[in-house]
This record gives sequence, C-alpha cells and structure tokens, in this order.
Amino acid sequence: MKVFVTGGAGYIGSHTLVRLLAAGHDVCVFDNYANSSPVALARARQLTNREVVAVEGDIRDSDALAQSLADFAPDAVVHFAGLKAVGESNDIPLLYYQTNVTGTMNLLAAMDAAGCRRIVFSSSATVYGEAQYLPFDEEHPIAPTNPYGRTKAMAEGVIRDWATATPDASAVLLRYFNPVGAHESGRIGEDPQDTPNNLMPFVAQVAVGRRARLSIFGDDYDTRDGTGERDYIHVVDLAAAHLAALEYSARATGCEAINVGTGQGITVKELVAAYEAACGRPIAAEIAPRRPGDVASSYAATAKAERLLGWQAALDVDDMCRSSWKWQSENPQGYDATTGAGA
Ligand code: NAD
Ligand code: UFG
Repeated sequence: MKVFVTGGAGYIGSHTLVRLLAAGHDVCVFDNYANSSPVALARARQLTNREVVAVEGDIRDSDALAQSLADFAPDAVVHFAGLKAVGESNDIPLLYYQTNVTGTMNLLAAMDAAGCRRIVFSSSATVYGEAQYLPFDEEHPIAPTNPYGRTKAMAEGVIRDWATATPDASAVLLRYFNPVGAHESGRIGEDPQDTPNNLMPFVAQVAVGRRARLSIFGDDYDTRDGTGERDYIHVVDLAAAHLAALEYSARATGCEAINVGTGQGITVKELVAAYEAACGRPIAAEIAPRRPGDVASSYAATAKAERLLGWQAALDVDDMCRSSWKWQSENPQGYDATTGAGA
C-alpha cells in the first residue's frame, strides 16, 4: 500500500513510519521539521533497510501539499502533522488553528484532487475535557478546555463532515491518551526541543542529568497516592494501532473515533518508581503546586479499539520506561548531537 504520512519525522510519526516500512508499505513523509529532525527519517531507513520518500513542506501551503500528494498518488493518508503544546496554544491560538484546522482542510482538499479517500487522523483524549465519568468512552461529551484541544475537536468535525460528503470515504480518528516510550533499538524516540511539557520526557532528562529535579504537580488529588493518574500508552503499541486503523479503513467506510490507550491509570509517583527501576538511579523530585487545568484521572475505555481494529496494547509501564531510558541514555541530547544524516 502507498501511504502519505504528514508529520512522519515527529515522535509518533517516526515510530509509525518504521512499522509501515517494516510491513512493506511504500511511504512518502511530508514534514516541515518544525518540531523534528530529518535524522529520524535516516534512522527509520537504517532500522528497516527500506527507502522512504521525504518532502520538506508545510501543510499550510495548500499548493505544495496538493502537488506532493498528487505526485505520490497514495492509497491512504496518516495525518500526524500539527502543533501539540497545550500551554503554547493559549498564547498563539491562531497558529494552532491555522496548522491543525486549516492544515487538515488543505489535506482533505488535496486528497479530493488526488482521488484518495482514506485517512487516519491523530486526535487526542484532550477533546473530552473534564471527565463526567471514567473510563472515557468514545460517547463521552466533547468539551475541550484549551485552544489545542479545540483545534483537535474542530479537525475531527471537519474530517467527519468530509467523510459524510465523500462517497466511499473512510476516516479513523484515533484519540491517543498519553504516548510514551521509544523504539526498542534506542535509535528513535521523543526529542522535545525546549523544556519538556510532559512527564515522561522530563523524568528521562532528570535521569540522564540534563535537569536537576522533577516537580510533581500536586499530591492532593483524589487518587491512590494523591498524584495525577494517566493512561500511558507505549508509542510502539500506538504505531501498531495506526496499521490496524489503515487495515480497518480498507474494509469500512464512514468515520469512527477510537480511543488508543491501555485502560490502566498510572500515577505520577508510580511512573517515577518504574523509571527509577528501569534506569537504576534515583529520580530527584519535589512536590509542587497543581498545574492549572490538570485533572485528577484520565484513562480510556478500550473496547471499541478491540472490536473495530482488533488492536489492544501489549506493552506495560516497565517496557515504556526501559525503552525511554535506552533512547535517552544513548542519545542524551536527542537528535541534536548527531552529526550528519544517518549518524
Ligand atoms: P511531534 O511534534 O513530534 O510531531 C509532529 C510533526 O509534525 C513534527 O515532525 C513537525 O515537524 C510536523 N509539523 C508541525 N507543523 C507542521 C506543518 N505546518 N507542516 C508540516 N509538518 C508540520 O508530535 P507527536 O507527539 O509525534 O504528535 C503527532 C500528532 O499526534 C500531533 O498531531 C499531536 O497533536 C497528536 N497527539 C500527540 C500526543 C502526545 O502526547 N504526543 C497526544 C495526543 C495527540
Ligand atoms: N506532571 C508532573 N510534572 C511534570 C509534568 C507532568 O507532575 O513536570 C504530571 C501532570 O500533572 C499529570 C501527569 O504528570 O498529572 C501527566 O502530565 P503530562 O503533561 O505528561 O500529560 P497530560 O495528561 O497533561 O497531557 C498529555 C498531552 C496532551 C494530551 C493529553 C491526552 O500533553 O496534549 O496527554 O492525550 F491531550
């Protein structure tokens, strides 16, 4: 199958790329490297011994996007490209709407022009907002609490309307919970450009000595140990979910939103303890005030993914921490310290 992957050099994109190449699919990555490095693509080539077409381009540039898509003539699209920092989205909302919403509209128009009718989209559990009940199932009301979440909810709506209006279209909206971990080779992983916003990359940078200590945002939540509880999903399992979604899109039409998580909540303290075991050193941490906007608990209902995609998570929190540590300890500065593509 020919698959056009926007944002394929990024964290989740590069892991999915490896999986697609290993399965024998032909892939074109379209990425402007705003938050990634072409070194990730070079490493995906090395890991799989396969070629990948790479186009440097911006999804906001509708002409360039349409040209690339027409040139490659894909059977399906996986749409990762976007901006994802919740805090930043409060400060520069228009850039988030232009990238995440207009970029998605540009992509669908380019697909129409190229006759491509299958899309798998990176959505987020953040579209649910405050939990009215747990676990979050796909019928939970959509009420995002920040601009980033609203762009994802809006892009979902645009894709749903497109799928309704387009004969034989198939769209899968994957709502990721908390992706963490890295490829088992230690060659690709998460490489935040600035101070990490998320827990696992922050813990990894403390472990490797890039940061002095972790701030635990609140220990007075109504959870087992008072710290926030999340559904961490191994990025390699998440990559597999994309392949399952692509297969599903070949046999079903319409638009489905599907959670991608393990269904298990892990607290901050539990994650830190698992990371300490994986890296064999203590993680310095202090209790800090709650982070505004954080919820106590979030975890997924996973039955729909099992029913429609035949997919469920296979890797546990120890696998997540071990693989993260291998990546972080073997690439302490991420891709930055790499000299030359493929190094
Ligand atoms: P990432 O930043 O590593 O990857 C996004 C990729 O898109 C990067 O390679 C970036 O360079 C590219 N990109 C950004 N703007 C672009 C533009 N205008 N044109 C072309 N390329 C552009 O992030 P990720 O964690 O791999 O996330 C991938 C997708 O999954 C995003 O859409 C994100 O919103 C979504 N998501 C991520 C998480 C998470 O916690 N990582 C959770 C839920 C959903
Ligand atoms: N946390 C800390 N210290 C840190 C960072 C995080 O204690 O330095 C805590 C948070 O308070 C929370 C938990 O660790 O309890 C997880 O926080 P993350 O920032 O890693 O993840 P979130 O659940 O807040 O959000 C992430 C992404 C969102 C996405 C959401 C659901 O950042 O974009 O998962 O998929 F929408």
